[in-house]
Amino acid sequence: MKINRDRFLKWIISGAIGFGILVLFNPDLSQAEEISQLTASRLRCEYRFDPLGIDETRPRLDWMLSSPVRGERQSGYRILVATSRKNLDRSQGDLWDSGKVSGDDTAQIVYPGKPLASGQECFWKVMVWDAKARASEWSEPAKWSMGLLAKEDWKADWIGSDSFWHKLSREAYFLLTPFQFLYQPFGKIYLPCPYLRKSFSVSKPVKRATIYATSLGIYELYLNGERVGEDFFTPGWTDYRIRVYYQSYDVTEMIRSGENALGAILSDGWYAGNIASKGQRVYGSRLRLKAQLQLEYADGSTEIVATDQSWSATDGAIREADIQAGESYDARLEMPGWSEPGFDDRAWKPVDLGAEVSPLIQSYPGIPVRRTGEVKPVSISEPKPGVYVFHLGQNFAGRARLKVRGKRGDKVTLRFAEMLNPDGTIYTTNLRSARATDTYILKGGATELWEPSFTYHGFQYVEVAGYPGKPELDAITGIVLHSGLAITGSFETSNPLVNKIYSNLLWGQRSNYFEVPTDCPQRDERAGWMGDAQIFIRTASYNMDIAPFFTKWMIDVDDAQLPDGAFQNTSPTAYAGKAAGWADAGVICPWTIYRVYGDTRIIEKHYPAMAKYLEFMKARSPEDLSPALGAYGDWLNINDPTPQDFITTAYYGLDAELMSEMAQAIGKPEDASQYLEMSGKIKEAFSGSFVSSEGGVKGDSQTGYLMALGFGLLPADLRAKAGENLLRRIQESDWCISSGFLGAKYIMPVLTELGRLDIAYRLLLNTRYPSWGYSINQGATTIWERWNSYTKENGFNDPGMNSFNHYAFGSVGEWLFSSLAGIDTDGPGFKNIVIHPHPGGDLTWAKASYDSIRGPITVFWKLEQDEFKLEVSIPANTSATVYIPAPGPDSVAESNVPAKSSSGVKFLRMEQESSVWEIGSGKYSFAARQ
Ligand code: BGC
Repeated sequence: MKINRDRFLKWIISGAIGFGILVLFNPDLSQAEEISQLTASRLRCEYRFDPLGIDETRPRLDWMLSSPVRGERQSGYRILVATSRKNLDRSQGDLWDSGKVSGDDTAQIVYPGKPLASGQECFWKVMVWDAKARASEWSEPAKWSMGLLAKEDWKADWIGSDSFWHKLSREAYFLLTPFQFLYQPFGKIYLPCPYLRKSFSVSKPVKRATIYATSLGIYELYLNGERVGEDFFTPGWTDYRIRVYYQSYDVTEMIRSGENALGAILSDGWYAGNIASKGQRVYGSRLRLKAQLQLEYADGSTEIVATDQSWSATDGAIREADIQAGESYDARLEMPGWSEPGFDDRAWKPVDLGAEVSPLIQSYPGIPVRRTGEVKPVSISEPKPGVYVFHLGQNFAGRARLKVRGKRGDKVTLRFAEMLNPDGTIYTTNLRSARATDTYILKGGATELWEPSFTYHGFQYVEVAGYPGKPELDAITGIVLHSGLAITGSFETSNPLVNKIYSNLLWGQRSNYFEVPTDCPQRDERAGWMGDAQIFIRTASYNMDIAPFFTKWMIDVDDAQLPDGAFQNTSPTAYAGKAAGWADAGVICPWTIYRVYGDTRIIEKHYPAMAKYLEFMKARSPEDLSPALGAYGDWLNINDPTPQDFITTAYYGLDAELMSEMAQAIGKPEDASQYLEMSGKIKEAFSGSFVSSEGGVKGDSQTGYLMALGFGLLPADLRAKAGENLLRRIQESDWCISSGFLGAKYIMPVLTELGRLDIAYRLLLNTRYPSWGYSINQGATTIWERWNSYTKENGFNDPGMNSFNHYAFGSVGEWLFSSLAGIDTDGPGFKNIVIHPHPGGDLTWAKASYDSIRGPITVFWKLEQDEFKLEVSIPANTSATVYIPAPGPDSVAESNVPAKSSSGVKFLRMEQESSVWEIGSGKYSFAARQ
């Protein structure tokens, strides 16, 4: 065949033109080489990964960006939300297609799509555009599902087991509750846990199976013999007279074709068990379960298996279970297969229906308690013959798993303690009335493993009595339990004492972020103490992702608000009352969540309650000065009290200022200016009444100066003078802290701001009493309640109130991250970051990381000969102001080139002894000659 050259050329040329047109007008192809290196990952809904059964109908979405390119920004995003994975894969956002939205928002993005129905699944993904307007690939898909949105969706009844003995004893006990003081000395009454079950059959292929469950008391759910979910202490602690939460679990994989069985165990928990030092049955006495399994078959039909009168009940191996008292288990009474199909339950009794309370039933908005680790004993001692004490080497909250082999009927008793007596026996006096004792009766034969289900203790020693033979080290394993929040921080320096302070405060949080922010995990208290919570919250926010925890707890705080507008000292209410520094958590905590996560919804949701509190304060504060609210004062100060009216007015002024900022953030400028005016007046009255022209404060306490300075209550001319007075007071205290826990939070930041880093480090590294280091020298592995909970000279402090696991004095953690390492936010939500390390003391290096809502921030500084070196990285789509100690900008290099000419780095100014730079996202290495 003869080839026509001209025709061939024409063909080639037209082909090329055609391809060009195709590339030009097909966005996918035209971008083929122009795909952005910006990627979106860590997609979350309502701060959680793929949450199930939420009832927020306008949920908020967020993602994290990463890019190898410095100074990268997101210029836009597009979100698709689809009813099925198939539709999402085809990029059909049939619930919501946001279209391309310009801007750099990556968090708190409210879903405004089609109304969502109960049980609906929502699949979503996001595409982002970089600073050069190049689009990324679609992210990996994520999902959420809706819970039961309407009351009518609940088909389940409240069921429980009020057998004759249950009824008699529970009712008698309930009636006798007001007279507890008479019989408590003779012991409390604990009843066996009810076991509930029902079998049902499945005859068609199942597409999806979801269980929604809640209880009055704590529940554990089983399906075909397997535990459902990995949560503990569900449904959590609320004021059950007002609301109770339900959890949702996808159990599709657990359903069998043919016969299936559901089982549940109930225990007293917070509903009917010991709470604080209130005794038992504070909310009610009849334990109840409400659960429904929704089956969606492949053929499109649906079926519900719900708690109703067709279930049956009995008692089982768990003879007693109480959060504070402990658990008793008789393995001889186990019923193998009790939650499996085919189990013979003819001897079981019918269930009782109905509940004593009628709370709102809502989806759990937080993250439940989970197992987060194991602690292995380091040694065993035998202070008395046959009584063994396991030393775990770390104080924590959780329980012990027992490994034992022996005869049927052998009884092993476990008791828990934080400290030892001088004779090596366990010290339990500080547990007050918390019995903290678990017992296990062996069934005999093979090795038996047992871990209780419905109790937890605060401990580092486990006393084991009645053990058959001599136990090996692996007879006990510590199980760490706390609200399963993601760890977001890491921190390490060249100084072991500072590292230990950090470790101790982190363990304090692990032990006390337990469903609510508790004060302690061991004694008969464990309440949501508001003062402790607000003092520690900012530290906590570095350590863990606390947004879901406070989303949940702030509802408890509102539920506990008194009719007069005052927030209470504990939420849920455990000890009635209101005090300055405690009640104020109602304002300080939402503000902190806003600052750290840019969360405006928490403000919107709690704004009415906060405004009511400010009204309450205003009404009781003539002349803008507040008389004492409550009587706790600067709790646990060392002979250095601060007047109550001073503290109350200081917090009132702080609250008004925070309210102004929050009002502005949610688009209420008028309120914002009113609150600003209010705080201005309070500050004026405060200075006028409590501060002398020489900057001396009423009471002349360390905390007085710390509050005046730390809350920003003083005019500029008095600040310096008050600062001098503070230094005088520290010197008078022999260079020690004498503040209680309201003041201690501010000592390091205030000294840093005053430019007295030398004194700040002197206090931080101090090991004399009172100091953080003192407890560490006495062997502390957690933060203690008191500066002198134990001293070598005087032994234990008053056991009436002496916990070895209280996080309040751990509030120094905020300064460790924000100032020592130097990671902080500039404005809400870590969009603009401040990197401002403060080397001092004998520290030669420090490294820290914080996984912010916008992604990970890392800092590593070190002092090398005459150089200060800083490695820093900040996530894509953020910028940072970086402070580098240097005599001038010319002595600073970034990755070996003069910093001024390094890409992505801009010199801003000199400030005191630091050169101040602006960086865009990415990794940077600075070196500064001193
Ligand atoms: C708690 C504290 C709490 C205080 C109120 C104590 O029993 O453990 O941490 O804030 O009472 O003053």
